[in-house]
Formats: sequence, structure tokens, C-alpha cells
Amino acid sequence: MIVTIDGPAGTGKSTVARQLAERLGFEFLNTGAMYRAVALVCLERNIAPQDDPAVAAVPHSVRMIFRNNRLWLNDRDVSESIRDTTVTEVASIVASNPEVRKQLVALQQQCAEQSNLVTEGRDQGTVVFPHAACKIFLTATAEERARRRMRELSDQGQAVDWEALLADLQLRDHRDATRACAPLVPAADAQIVDSSQMTIDEVLNHLEQLARERLQLKATTVRP
Ligand code: DC
Repeated sequence: MIVTIDGPAGTGKSTVARQLAERLGFEFLNTGAMYRAVALVCLERNIAPQDDPAVAAVPHSVRMIFRNNRLWLNDRDVSESIRDTTVTEVASIVASNPEVRKQLVALQQQCAEQSNLVTEGRDQGTVVFPHAACKIFLTATAEERARRRMRELSDQGQAVDWEALLADLQLRDHRDATRACAPLVPAADAQIVDSSQMTIDEVLNHLEQLARERLQLKATTVRP
């Protein structure tokens, strides 16, 4: 059984998907982390993100494993380093490389062979798991998403320029939505959830209800 959660950055997708997976007793797959890992390796090896053949060779050259919701690259825990702002920027470029996408999609589909999955990203309901029984498209206005990001950064004591933050987010939205390969669009059969006016708990409760209805689950844990 598969629940897909797609949508733009800053909607709280990862948090909600992880907690939903816990509530359902499913595994959680964060596919953005995989594109970020490819970006991290490019930065470390001085590979230009636009050098398509060189970038395409990266996924084959590393071992990516999720363990306890942390991402390991060749036995190195990179869960923190992939959150770096430079990695974020490069990830958005390498994610438009069709060869990289092909390899990561195959890895994502393998993950679903072993477990029930809540998976989040941009193309999970459209390309990776077109037959998933429950598809959600989680969205929020760009202004609200930028506000949330700004709060997060100021909580960490970082100075933030609101205009730059919003412009950055809109640029990445545009890149994700207009790329030729697997652009960010809701699947035709996805439930659209706008979280602009909702708390994380409200979103989580709503998605749990949707998922249980779609998957016909009772309030018990289900394994494959
Ligand atoms: O969700 P995120 O910000 O961690 O994703 C990092 C980048 O990867 C972002 O630019 C969108 C891209 N991405 C993608 O193209 N397809 C996915 N399934 C997941 C993420």
C-alpha cells in the first residue's frame, strides 16, 4: 500500500509524511533527500550541476540507504549536510537531469517492494507510483511558505531577507513546475490540500483520515 504526498517546498510535507507513516505503521520515504544527496556529492567532487553526463554518473557511484529516517551515503550519515542552502540550490538543478531521475525513480520503486510506504516528493503520484491508492497534493501560498521558512531560520538565529527568501522559493517552484522531465503537477486523481490556514496537526489529522478512507484501513497498524 502506498500513500504519495507531492507538493512544493515549504508546505510541511516531510514532517507530515513522516508522522503519517508512523500513525499508519508504514515506512517513510523522503525522495527530496535523494536529490539532495546527489547534489552534495556533486559539490564535494566539484562537478558542475549543469554537466549532465557527469551528474548522471553520480547515483551509480554511491550507495544510498535510509535507516531510521536518516540518509546514509557510503556509510556516512548526511542527513544534516544535505540541508545546507547551497545543496538546496544545486538539488533543484540536478533534479531536472532525466538520467538522474530515472535512476532515483528505480530506487524509490524498489523501496516499495519491501514495505507499505508513505512517500513524499514532486512526482510520486504522477510518475513513480501512478497506481498508488492514496495520492495527496499538499500546497500553500508562496507567501505563507516563505513566512514559515523565515520563522524557522530566525528560530535558528539566522538573519533573513524576506524578499530574497520569497524570490528564491518562487524560482525553485518555477524550476520544479516547468522542467521537461516529471514536472511538479498534481496527479489527476490526487486530493489537493491547501495548508495555508492549517497547523501541522490539522494537516496530519486530515491526511490520516483521507489515507484511512482511501486505503480502507481501520485504526490498526497494517503491514504488507
Ligand atoms: O523536497 P526537497 O526540498 O527536499 O527537494 C529537493 C529538490 O529535489 C527540490 O528542488 C525538488 C527536487 N525533487 C524532485 O524533483 N523530485 C522529487 N521526487 C523530490 C524532490
